[in-house]
Amino acid sequence: MKKSVLIISCIALPLLVCSCGKCGLYRMIDKAFENAQAQYIPLADSILTACPGRFPHSLKEDGSMTAVKSNGWTSGFFPGSLWYIYEWGQNPEIRDFADKFTAQMEKEQYNTHTHDVGFMMYCSYGNSYRLCPDTLKRRILINSANSLKSRMNPVVGCIRSWDGEVKPGWHYPVIIDNMMNLELLMWAFTETGDSTYLKTAVCHADHTILNHFREDYSSYHVVNYDPVTGDAMFKGTHQGLSDDSAWARGQAWGLYGYTMMYRFTSDDRYLHQAGKIAEYITSFPVMPADKIPYWDFMAPKDGEWTPRDASAGALYASALLELSTYVEADLSEGYREYAIDILKSLSSKEYTAARGTNGRFLLRHSTTSFPAGREIDKPLNYADYYYLEALLRLKNILDSER
Ligand code: GLY
Repeated sequence: MKKSVLIISCIALPLLVCSCGKCGLYRMIDKAFENAQAQYIPLADSILTACPGRFPHSLKEDGSMTAVKSNGWTSGFFPGSLWYIYEWGQNPEIRDFADKFTAQMEKEQYNTHTHDVGFMMYCSYGNSYRLCPDTLKRRILINSANSLKSRMNPVVGCIRSWDGEVKPGWHYPVIIDNMMNLELLMWAFTETGDSTYLKTAVCHADHTILNHFREDYSSYHVVNYDPVTGDAMFKGTHQGLSDDSAWARGQAWGLYGYTMMYRFTSDDRYLHQAGKIAEYITSFPVMPADKIPYWDFMAPKDGEWTPRDASAGALYASALLELSTYVEADLSEGYREYAIDILKSLSSKEYTAARGTNGRFLLRHSTTSFPAGREIDKPLNYADYYYLEALLRLKNILDSER
């Protein structure tokens, strides 16, 4: 009798577990990482052989690879993705490639010419240190945080994004993307206890709330400040459709940035900001059914094909999953469902490239800059990075509920 109960339980238990949908999600996650491993090993190998010192970024119109130098803003994403794949599968071959590509980033710790040093070093060395810590990596990350911190002008209250005059009169441009770089500063504060990192990040985040957001919590891409008076002189766009529009990835940088700031500070103002941005994104009426946004929310025109931005979709998924862990149950459920819908879309054949195609990047259909005609409907290394990150975040949430 006892034996038959046991046998029935053994058969029924997996069925019961599967009926809640979690098994399907685990399968989606594992399939995506198996694919990522199969695509990225030959990609890493070929880049190291053909162009050492470079990092896969995207594809040109003729299908050939764009590979950036270590000082390109996207350089850290490929090593970061390799670290995520290593985190998932613990494959020593992947770790070896992750180590090699990360080491190629080392000199950027002293790069004081761009805010992107945060993206570059935290995605590469940050993940490397998190998974396989050592004192050299720690030093490199702290030096990188110092380089980033040096770009703060206390009169403006923000870290300067770009050097040079990207447009005439832009003497102190700050872009919403810059919220992402604060993660390196917050890490440095947590690691060293030096409050100057915290003060810099909080000052930047607070000024960005003041100047980058509209009443509906959509954000401008660029705010140009007067570096002498600190006044916001111009609010508009560089990569979006128009000064008044909502550039899809810009909304993602804000959502992710304030969610991350809440993680480190437990400051309710940041949770509120992230919640409002999430509301703007998830209730936007012109969102495609698959929840992968148009490159700009205002871009679609009747009868015209409008490119998507899978990188923005991946970012929404990753940020919403984190945000879902900070809010009450019904909101949390909604964020999680939205993120899962995105991940299902990105994991479908429409977005995940067939093995051996797409230059071995994982995802299709991202857009760098429509106005500049750069990488429209193309793979992008950071779409892959945030997709893998979101899948791992989902796995961690599911694991925690087991
Ligand atoms: N941070 C540059 C971009 O999002 O295109």
